[in-house]
Amino acid sequence: MRRKVTKAIFPVAGMGTRFLPATKSIPKEIMTLVDRPLIQYAIDEARAAGIKEFIFVTSRGKGALEDYFDLAPELENALRKSGKDALLETLRATNMDSGAIAYVRQHRALGLGHAVWCAKRLISNEPFAVILPDDVIAAEQPCLAQMVEAYEQTGGCMVAAMEVPPAKAGAYGVLDVAEDMGSLVKVRGMVEKPPLGEAPSNLAVIGRYILTPKVLQTLNRMKSGAGGEIQLTDAIAEEIRQGREVYGHRFRGQRFDCGSKAGFLQATVAFGLAREDLRDEFQTYLGELMQAQQAAE
Ligand code: G1P
Repeated sequence: MRRKVTKAIFPVAGMGTRFLPATKSIPKEIMTLVDRPLIQYAIDEARAAGIKEFIFVTSRGKGALEDYFDLAPELENALRKSGKDALLETLRATNMDSGAIAYVRQHRALGLGHAVWCAKRLISNEPFAVILPDDVIAAEQPCLAQMVEAYEQTGGCMVAAMEVPPAKAGAYGVLDVAEDMGSLVKVRGMVEKPPLGEAPSNLAVIGRYILTPKVLQTLNRMKSGAGGEIQLTDAIAEEIRQGREVYGHRFRGQRFDCGSKAGFLQATVAFGLAREDLRDEFQTYLGELMQAQQAAE
């Protein structure tokens, strides 16, 4: 029997400079799509995949994230007294059991690989997941749950994969595909942020990973790569060189790059339209807006 994936690392140490000035005083993971912060989407996805322990790799100025997952007794009492049960229920999704959540500081911004490495003492000899909250994925079966299911068959390491246009490949880790099996691909190499025209395929890594603890040992001796940062992609590529198996999983779902302004706005519109309580009013508004724009052109 394969060991179950029960721990997830959430690298949330980034400064979020693309969203300044908002991120001057709030962590970008607290920014909201409709009424839930980005981090809540990531946590819900992890829970749906069977994750029981949540490890946040934070940095200075991320205190609001810790508070977000704490109890809010005054607020809860006030809601209880005024009979606002639905809101109380909404708050419950933000509560974490004591002991289920851990925070590790990444003192210097040395890259994603380094951030994951910072959590190594909290992972023992077991597979673990990594979720990048910037990548929000709308899917019938949440992306990480799809991957856990596939991983039960394959073992090894697995990354979420998505086709991207060649001109955009340079923004991602890109897979060198050894064997295409449909929703799964076997990977023979990975390149972080390849220069234009040098990407080994158009399959990009999206921020969901299932990794073996060996990757943490590999990260111990990793030197900096693309952008002068210690890259998780490089450590996974090293796993392949060591003869271990790595798979890409073409997930079913739509991914939004909430690390960019355009992606964040697209996600806001898509999640707004997906909400039953908002859909009608929002759709009407968008329709009118488009008409007015067309008329003005
Ligand atoms: C990170 C990873 C990259 C991956 C991307 C997905 O890059 O390093 O391999 O393709 O996330 O969103 P970043 O977007 O942090 O530059």
